[in-house]
Order: sequence, then structure tokens, then C-alpha cells
Amino acid sequence: MREYKVSELTGNEVLAKPVCLENGSIILEIGTVLKVSYKESLAALNVRKIFIEDPFEKYEKANFFFEQKVFLEFENDLKEILSHHIYHENTSLKKLANLGRELVKVFEATKEKRALDVWNRTPDMYEHTIFITILVMILGKEYGFSRKRMEHAVLGCLLHDLGYRYIDADFQNCNFKTLSPSKEYELKNHTILGYSALEKEEWVPEIAKLMVLSHHERMDGSGYPLRQRNSQKECRMIQICDAFDCAVSGMECKKKTICDAFEIISDKEKYESRMEKILEKKIGIYPAGTYVKTEDGKKAVVISQTENAKAPVILYTNEAGRNNIITENLNSDQAPKIASIIS
Ligand SMILES: [Fe+2]
Ligand SMILES: [Fe+2]
Repeated sequence: MREYKVSELTGNEVLAKPVCLENGSIILEIGTVLKVSYKESLAALNVRKIFIEDPFEKYEKANFFFEQKVFLEFENDLKEILSHHIYHENTSLKKLANLGRELVKVFEATKEKRALDVWNRTPDMYEHTIFITILVMILGKEYGFSRKRMEHAVLGCLLHDLGYRYIDADFQNCNFKTLSPSKEYELKNHTILGYSALEKEEWVPEIAKLMVLSHHERMDGSGYPLRQRNSQKECRMIQICDAFDCAVSGMECKKKTICDAFEIISDKEKYESRMEKILEKKIGIYPAGTYVKTEDGKKAVVISQTENAKAPVILYTNEAGRNNIITENLNSDQAPKIASIIS
């Protein structure tokens, strides 16, 4: 299944999710074969996006670094621990230390060499937290972190948005420029609240506390809450990974494309350049399921990453027939380059 713009309907697409109006009434059922003429009527009803069955999905072999089942288990464990936590009742939070150790263990055992796929993300705090934990571990590995240092950094990641547990503000797809000053203050205050809840906890390493407080700071002092310029690698790592994942997931800002997210973190004043270069190498710019056009004008869909984050394996959709599946690994000198993303 994939999200599809109504304006791009060409006919014969099969609906994978019903089309509903804002009042919840279903106007098109799953399995409906769409006609081009639906374009106008759906647009008139203010339906801009639909979900259609993707015939090439079965060829996709995405790399989420962890198997999706394992990722989900970590996400659910985190949710279970954090959702039962109340301010200054930190005994239950100690379970996070174990969860962190488990995450590092699974990460160390992962032999995946392909670039990481970023799926079509939602602004979910728990998914966001596990995702940035993986990104920070990727950086930590490149920087040669010891197991202990990695575990401390991971705990900082797991705790970093703890402050959201204490406020009633919507951090999803928000735009700070349009928020009232009091709402903006409340949202930004999640850093202070998280830190103050952990400040006296001896089981939380100092670096992890600092990561919680400083994950929205920037190298040039333009961040919040204290406009600090942190020199600790762990702080800079969580700052860049959090900024990237906030952008692609729509946490604490409007959701952006992967290219735009890279544009944001390539700001050398705010983020450490070496870290940005590592992430560029490790995160696929065209995730599995992305429809692209090659420089020789052919349409294709990305089905897998390679070790080169800009050159995935693609399947040519123009040529695809029942027995005619043509794929190409773009990670070779002779292969064409991707010219553009179709959707
Ligand atoms: Fe945050
Ligand atoms: Fe965050």
C-alpha cells in the first residue's frame, strides 16, 4: 500500500484503504478500481490523498536496521515504561536502563551494511525516540564509543523527550512561528522539565541528563532552552539526530522530506559537519517504495538500499509485466543515476 496524490491518478489503481469524508462517511470502499474521472470529484470533496495497492511492494526489502518486529517491541516497551511514569516517581523509569542495554546489544549484533530506510513516518514520540536512538548508535559506532559510553548515550536518547509527559501541548506537526508565545514556551519547556525530573537521580549518568536538557541546543548558541554551545559529542549527536528525525516525522515541527531534513542538518554553524556526513552515508535518500525517474527517463521504484545511500536497487515499473520484472543495482559505475523523485 502507498499514499498517492489524487491529482496523480492515471486510472486502474486499486484502493487499499477506504476513502472517508471528514464526517467519517465512506465514499469509496477498499478494492475499488479507480477511474481518472474520480480525480475531479475527489478534489471537489477535498480529498487530496488516498492509499492504493502497490503491486511492487512485495519486491521491497527495506532495511530498518532492526527487524520491524524488534523495532516495535522496543517501541512498545518504551511506551509501557513512559506511559506509567508520573513526575518525580522515577522508580519505574529505571527499567529504561535495561531497555537501553538491550538496544545496544541488538545493535551490536546487527551486521547490516546497507543504508537505513526511513519509512513514511508519523509524529509518534515513541517511534521517534527509538529511531533517534538508532541514529545516535550509528554515530557512536563511527566515533568508536565503548559499550558503556554507548549505553549512557542510549539512555539519554530514551529519556530525551521525557518532559512531554508533564505538559499538555501538541508537539505534532507544529510550527513555532505560528504558536502563541505561551504555547511556544510550554513546548520548549519540555527540555527543562525532563532535566529537572532526572537531576537528582543517581542512576542516570550526567551525560544522559545533559542530553535531555540540551537536545534542542545548537553549536552556534541559537538553540533552546539555554542557548548553550555544548561540546560533548553525545550532546551534538542527539542534537543532529533529533533535528533530522523531527523533520522527517513531523515531531515539534512541520513534516519535511528526507532531502529537506538533510538540508537542515547540513548547516555547519549549528551541527557538526562530520556527523552530518556520516548520516548522509548511512541513511538512504530514496527509501524503499519511493517512485523515481532515472536520468535516462525510465520510471522505477526503489526496492532495496545498497551500501551507497544514493544508489539503491530499483525495479523498472515501465517494463514490469507478470513475468517481466527488471531490477537494477544503481551502485555501479555503469548504472544510471536517479534524476528525480516521482512521489
Ligand atoms: Fe524535544
Ligand atoms: Fe525529540
